[in-house]
Amino acid sequence: MPQGDPCNLLIIGKGGREHALVWKLKQSPRAGKIFCAPGNAGTAGEGATNLPFDHTDPDRLARHCEKEQIGLVIIGPEDPLAGGLSDYLRNKGFKVFGPSKDAARIEGSKVFAKELMRHADVPTADFQVFDHPGPARTYVETRDYPVVVKADGLAAGKGVVVCKDNAEALQAVRRIMTDEEFGSTAGRKIVVEKKLEGEELSVLALVSGRTILPLPACQDHKAVFDGDKGPNTGGMGAYCPAPAGTPSLLADLEKDVFVPIVHAMKRGRYPFQGVLYAGIMLTNQGSRVLEFNCRFGDPETQPVLMRLKSDLIDLLEAVADERLHEFEDKVEWDTRPAVCVVLCSGGYPGKYENGKPITGIAEAEALADVKVFHAGTKIDDKGRVVTDGGRVLGVTALGKDLAAAKARAYEAVKLISFTGMHYRTDIADKALKVKPVAAPVEAPKLPAKFRRPGGDKPTT
Ligand code: AMP
Ligand code: GLY
Repeated sequence: MPQGDPCNLLIIGKGGREHALVWKLKQSPRAGKIFCAPGNAGTAGEGATNLPFDHTDPDRLARHCEKEQIGLVIIGPEDPLAGGLSDYLRNKGFKVFGPSKDAARIEGSKVFAKELMRHADVPTADFQVFDHPGPARTYVETRDYPVVVKADGLAAGKGVVVCKDNAEALQAVRRIMTDEEFGSTAGRKIVVEKKLEGEELSVLALVSGRTILPLPACQDHKAVFDGDKGPNTGGMGAYCPAPAGTPSLLADLEKDVFVPIVHAMKRGRYPFQGVLYAGIMLTNQGSRVLEFNCRFGDPETQPVLMRLKSDLIDLLEAVADERLHEFEDKVEWDTRPAVCVVLCSGGYPGKYENGKPITGIAEAEALADVKVFHAGTKIDDKGRVVTDGGRVLGVTALGKDLAAAKARAYEAVKLISFTGMHYRTDIADKALKVKPVAAPVEAPKLPAKFRRPGGDKPTT
């Protein structure tokens, strides 16, 4: 399709990230029909058609692309990317934004990612790979603690265990490799590495061919409770731009992380196309890569897209067409920062109930510069918007500065309610230099199995 023509779109996924993508894509004068597989109540509310099937039925997706003359498919989550959906649809002749199965290994296999980093001389924690529990057990006996033990494969966001002593490391090796708690494939190999200390930063870049177009840095909040307490989640809130991502730091990361990785992937004949997300730890010894993701972050995408002024169809299509260089220095951003606060179901990241009616979304969105992105929501048979997942909504606001954006986001949060709703009250405080609270306020009690020493990261 020539650049600039109307374009029918298919977005794969059902989270807050996918609602944000639909919301922004819809603003393009080029947007034709928009479909979501499967989408949520928010994507439907934007006028997109939610499809009753998802990435687990690629044949049906391909038939739908054919029938509706889809001009661009955008794949949100890691599972379909790691499973090769982009190759499948591309081979059928459709234009797809998202990496090939081979390139998606950068997220799908921690062993692959760490070995690639070693090969490309990208700064990361020292590590060792094991494919048998015996040598892994011997190795962890000799370590200085804390260490982190990671299952190799995708584990629904779980599978990273922070261990403060040898007993915990032995238990992690057993859980991952012997008990196969995260699945037999994910647990076939493990990475054992040093635990790094510092602030985390999410640095995302659009990548196509050799072109790397960094997006403004964000900070996510992975722990469930205020002050970074409690188990890890998929992300409880994010803000953008993160002041910790100074221009000189971002320039260094481009030079020391993105360029070597992107070039190594191209040389290895698995070039990356899509969004490359580097999870960075800012340590006293400098920046270290914790992980790569092969997709847009969630919730990072919500504040990023609130600030994007350029046409998202043009941009994503340029990635898919390997014309991204045309956009270098041309992407426009709202100068105002954005803050996203995630509202979760009672019990998340442990067990929670679905089907709780949600009130106040329209009132929250009536506030200036506020957008409520849906994640785990659906319309029930009575036509109500109800909860349908752990992370339910991402209340996102722009403000003249970070403090104003935070204040506006929480003003909107106060208008929304559903039974069991909980959220962090300190999103963006690190950048605002607010002292962390000593203990979680009204922390919901989690079942014992979720009270692990750090690490687990359910993604829904
Ligand atoms: P990953 O599954 O590799 O994305 O890791 C999930 C989370 O675990 C990261 O965002 C960090 O919060 C934490 N993590 C992973 N590796 C390390 C490490 N070496 N040191 C400290 N924290 C880590
Ligand atoms: N917010 C973390 C992630 O998208 O993996």
